[in-house]
Formats: sequence, C-alpha cells, structure tokens
Amino acid sequence: MPPIPPAIRAVVFDLYGTLYDVHSVAGACDSRYAGRGMDISTLWRQKQLEYTWLRSLMGQYIPFEQATRDALVYTCRHLGLDLDQAACDALCDAYLKLSPYPEVPGALGRLNALGVPLAILSNGSVFSIGEVVRASGLASSFSHLLSVEAVRVFKPDFRVYQLACDTLRLPAAEILFVSSNAWDAAGAWHFGFQVCWLNRDARTFDELGAAPRVIRSLDELPVFAPA
Ligand code: 2OP
Repeated sequence: MPPIPPAIRAVVFDLYGTLYDVHSVAGACDSRYAGRGMDISTLWRQKQLEYTWLRSLMGQYIPFEQATRDALVYTCRHLGLDLDQAACDALCDAYLKLSPYPEVPGALGRLNALGVPLAILSNGSVFSIGEVVRASGLASSFSHLLSVEAVRVFKPDFRVYQLACDTLRLPAAEILFVSSNAWDAAGAWHFGFQVCWLNRDARTFDELGAAPRVIRSLDELPVFAPA
C-alpha cells in the first residue's frame, strides 16, 4: 500500500455533492411531479446553497434542514407546482437518505486501511449529517462528523474550516480537504488546507482566486498516488 504523503495527517470531506449525490432526490421528486424531477432537484440545490450563504451574510443561523425546506418551498412555487405539507415532509426526508457516489465506499475503505483519520465537515446539522451517513451504512468510516452547528455560520466562513483544525488538533496545512463544490474548495484553499476539487462532471472552476488540485474521482486522491 502506498505511504500517506507526510504532510497529510487527515482527510476531511464535504458531504453534499461530494460524498453523496444531492440529485439522488430527483427520483422522489419525479414520482410526485412526473418529468420534473431533475428540474426540481437542480433549482432546489441552488436555492438551498444561496439560502445558507445569504443567512450567513445576514448574521442569522438556521439549521440546514430549514434552508433545505425553504428552498424546496421556493422551488415548487417558482415552478408552479403544488406542495402540500405531506409532500414537503416526504421530499425533505429523501434528503436524509441521499445515495453515496459509486466510488465512495471503496475509496473510504482504502483510506481506512491506510490508517488516515477521515472526517466530514458539512453545512449540514448534526442531525442531517448523522442521518445521511447512517442511512448509507458508512458511519464507521469516519472518526469525526463535524457540523457547522458548532459555530452557527455556514461554509465558506473560515470559522467552519477552523473547526476541523481545532477538532483534529492539526494545522490546516496537514489536512487534505476534498470538495466537489467549487465555492467550498476555493474557501478551503484560501483558509490554508491542502485541497482537492473533485470535478466529476468536467465543470469549470469558479474565478475565486484559488488553485486547488483537481481530481475526477476519489480514486485519484493524492494519498493513493504511488510514492
Ligand atoms: C456541505 O456538505 C453544503 O455541500 C455542502 O457542506
């Protein structure tokens, strides 16, 4: 097995869109609103993120589930779809059971075999992170599940990234942070982590003055690179 590069003492993952596919809710959306699943899921995610950033700028903290619910209400209103309480509850519940991307269980297993501590650092609440990870059967892969709830502000605020350093008792430069969200990879890079932007879909990186390493799959993480 390849040795872990000496400068990397822990790997910290973003959750939504990085380890777990937020568009795995599209199927549940589609079964209520035939043919609209992906439209709903796409706008839902976009507004969910916007609401976290805007709430942070307003100095307000709301749990991630609230941002998710508010974004779904907006999305259905915008698309002209009826959303009763039961449908809203059911679709928000689907967000607690997201599917991991196919390579995730294998990559986590290989990292666990290398003995490198693994954590999640997410805008999710303690509850939502715990539910998603538990439902996928991957809870035992992680030494820490870190939620923004502890600092009551959302990524990319540096107080969130600092939480990983404080909890893992490591300097930022010894943590490899992995996110498929370009805004998150950029924030983490400016904070001082070693960063991999996980670009599964050949997207364009945002112009945010950051230059993280780019990988196309978790199987390309530098800890797996030959020595
Ligand atoms: C996260 O898991 C929202 O994807 C973002 O923090």
